[in-house]
Amino acid sequence: MENIITLAIETSCDETSIGVLKNGREILSNRISSQIELHKKFGGVVPEVASRKHIETIDYILDDALKEANISLNDIDNIAVTYGPGLVGALLVGLSYGKALAYALDKPLVGVNHIEGHINANFIEHPELEPPFVCLIVSGGHSHLVYIKDYGEYEILGRTRDDAAGEAFDKIARAMNLGYPGGPIIDELSKEGNKDAVNFPRVYLEEDSFDFSFSGLKSAVLNYLNNQKQKDLDIVVEDVAASFQQAVIEVLVNKTLRAANLKNSNIITIAGGVAANEGLRKLMEEKAKGLGIDVKYPSKILCTDNAAMIGCAGYYDYIKGRISDLDLNAVPNLKLGDK
Ligand code: KG4
Ligand code: ZN
Repeated sequence: MENIITLAIETSCDETSIGVLKNGREILSNRISSQIELHKKFGGVVPEVASRKHIETIDYILDDALKEANISLNDIDNIAVTYGPGLVGALLVGLSYGKALAYALDKPLVGVNHIEGHINANFIEHPELEPPFVCLIVSGGHSHLVYIKDYGEYEILGRTRDDAAGEAFDKIARAMNLGYPGGPIIDELSKEGNKDAVNFPRVYLEEDSFDFSFSGLKSAVLNYLNNQKQKDLDIVVEDVAASFQQAVIEVLVNKTLRAANLKNSNIITIAGGVAANEGLRKLMEEKAKGLGIDVKYPSKILCTDNAAMIGCAGYYDYIKGRISDLDLNAVPNLKLGDK
């Protein structure tokens, strides 16, 4: 079989990324230009600033990605691009760019759902991995518990009812003036702290629910911080970080294990930016081991936003004949499973 070369583009939030994949799972290049430094001083992503930076950067990223992959535009078989969910202005930069390339090169365009991209990062990391399996997707914008029936076929078991897991990390870090993005900072601090120092609530919702809710936990942490301040008591940042993180990951792990049990799945994958969390990875592995369940997650660089994961999802759509029209629009609130 001839090799299929996919050019992938991702600009849904604050990373401008372009990559080249061979046969969907082999990375030839995966260039990522992060805007974190730019947004840090605002304590979060400023949409207008993000869009402008994508426009400034995208040409250079394409050049780098092609050079590193050692290919020219003529070698490309298809173009995969994120069209949602995300910030509309940011999405439109990558999508317009992808559409222009597809038109000029006369190559098929494949619009990719960003959340689907996160799931697919696991296929790149683990060449032998095949559906079905249970996947916990936890990022800055999304928290989902999904049964992956086949490539591109999803049964959604649960989702967040309020804040996404990563959003909770970012908000708590902000409340403690720790910097942005909060996830990696809290993850590091947790290693130095006592996870049992403060007993924050574990929110499981209804007994059989696979949904998540993090806003109650967020309020509990904010209340604790305010109380300590009012009473002029010490706040041990490491202990608060570790106790908060433990409250998040215990719920994530327990619900994921219950989903694996329901689906009779002996594989659990984790995806999205929060899949980089070392506490989450460790606890999931510890608890799954005794149950004979294998836990897989991408390397950290493939957990957070990158084009390669989009290329992998786009590849499986392409080989199934799912091609997009050139009038494809950005869909900021695109749901998993929507095409
Ligand atoms: O997947 P991602 O890059 O973007 C979205 O699609 O949202 O995820 C970014 C999120 C941020 O909220 C960030 O704080 C979180 O992932 N994150 C982490 C870690 N690394 C990144 N959260 C917890 N622990 C980490 N090590
Ligand atoms: Zn993402």
